[in-house]
Amino acid sequence: MKIDILTLFPGMFKGFIEESIIKRAIAIKAVDINLINFRDFSKLNNHQVDDTPYGGGRGMVLRCEPVIDALESVKKKDSKVILLSPQGKLFDENLALKLKNEKHLIFICGHYEGFDERIRSFIDEEISIGDYVLTGGELPAMVISDAVIRLLPNVIKEESYANDSFMNGLLDYPTYTKPPVFRGLEVPPVLLSGHHENIKLWREKAALDNTQKKRKDLLEKK
Ligand SMILES: C[S@@+](CC[C@H](N)C(=O)[O-])C[C@H]1O[C@@H](n2cnc3c(N)ncnc32)[C@H](O)[C@@H]1O
Repeated sequence: MKIDILTLFPGMFKGFIEESIIKRAIAIKAVDINLINFRDFSKLNNHQVDDTPYGGGRGMVLRCEPVIDALESVKKKDSKVILLSPQGKLFDENLALKLKNEKHLIFICGHYEGFDERIRSFIDEEISIGDYVLTGGELPAMVISDAVIRLLPNVIKEESYANDSFMNGLLDYPTYTKPPVFRGLEVPPVLLSGHHENIKLWREKAALDNTQKKRKDLLEKK
């Protein structure tokens, strides 16, 4: 998969692409991530990318020209263009599962007060990562890329995420590691029994109980 991220702040992505699983996904060529600064596409002398809103009012608005020129420099026939915005469709695991089948994702990160409304005419989808407002689209671009990249072949083992929360409409079951007793808190004995069938049954029930306790709404949907 190729991911192009259009941003005014490419430096924000340094840790994201240089650490842990995303770094390895890039190394094994499961994903190719490109950062494009739309300031480089401004034709104004001072490389300005924003301006005051028509009609007056608060904040600075990203101009169409540098954003769309940057977009058109990377867009191909099979690209999916995603605008990050608090007004978009709410991101969830189902959307991550859909996006993992795309060949080429392009994220447009807004900043400041937002962007010129006409930019919406050039996109395929508008996505929000939650009902709150962030300073820019950079964190949302990282959140969505991370959730999608971990689902790509060879990035992590499929059995590692098959039972993750939301994969089958439930939360994950509780997990434990050594020691068997920590400050009086015991690991459920069945997990130490070595009896695979009983462990499987315990985990299925524990996932259901966990969902019932923390996210009843998921059970209602299921
Ligand atoms: C301060 S916000 C602009 C908010 C805009 N005035 C509004 O109320 O819809 C600046 C940029 O951050 C990004 N952003 C902020 N919150 C977001 C969210 N929840 N999901 C996705 N992107 C978000 C968008 O790219 C947005 O253009």
